[in-house]
Amino acid sequence: MPQDLRPVVQEILEGYTLPLEGFHGITHWARVLENGLRLCEETGADREVVRLFAVFHDARRFNESFDPGHGQRGAELAKALRGKVFELTDSQFALLETACIDHTDELTHPDATIATCWDADRLDLGRVGMTPDPELLCTAAGRRPEIIRQAHGRAVFRTVPDLVAEEWGVVL
Ligand SMILES: [Fe+2]
Ligand SMILES: [Fe+2]
Repeated sequence: MPQDLRPVVQEILEGYTLPLEGFHGITHWARVLENGLRLCEETGADREVVRLFAVFHDARRFNESFDPGHGQRGAELAKALRGKVFELTDSQFALLETACIDHTDELTHPDATIATCWDADRLDLGRVGMTPDPELLCTAAGRRPEIIRQAHGRAVFRTVPDLVAEEWGVVL
């Protein structure tokens, strides 16, 4: 049974200062989550870590451009909220922490869960006018043309996934 992310998202939004529908806002988090779950079917990544990465990795950005340290701040928020609004084992949390902290500066990672998190994020680059480069994707699944095409189409049109309202209770 997947954890309910509604209370997690509500806590994140309490301190989120950028536009919800901005380049790194809630609609991006939801597309990253959906990309991630699609990739999990092939990569064997930990679905709960991937879901939590989606909502935390950009949760404490200060701006919509180059924002050094935002991954670290997202990881710190996750640490503060762990045990309050979500549960992970120590080993799962270590993966979430690394995935958040290093998502901007590292190219790839040998751990399938971390690699899946980063691909889920990079497959949404179309929202800022970039096309995902297969050479910069970490998993075989993420590099598959049909996966890129599907994710990129949604990114370009900045599709708002139904889960934003239906699972997170956020009406935009
Ligand atoms: Fe980021
Ligand atoms: Fe992101």
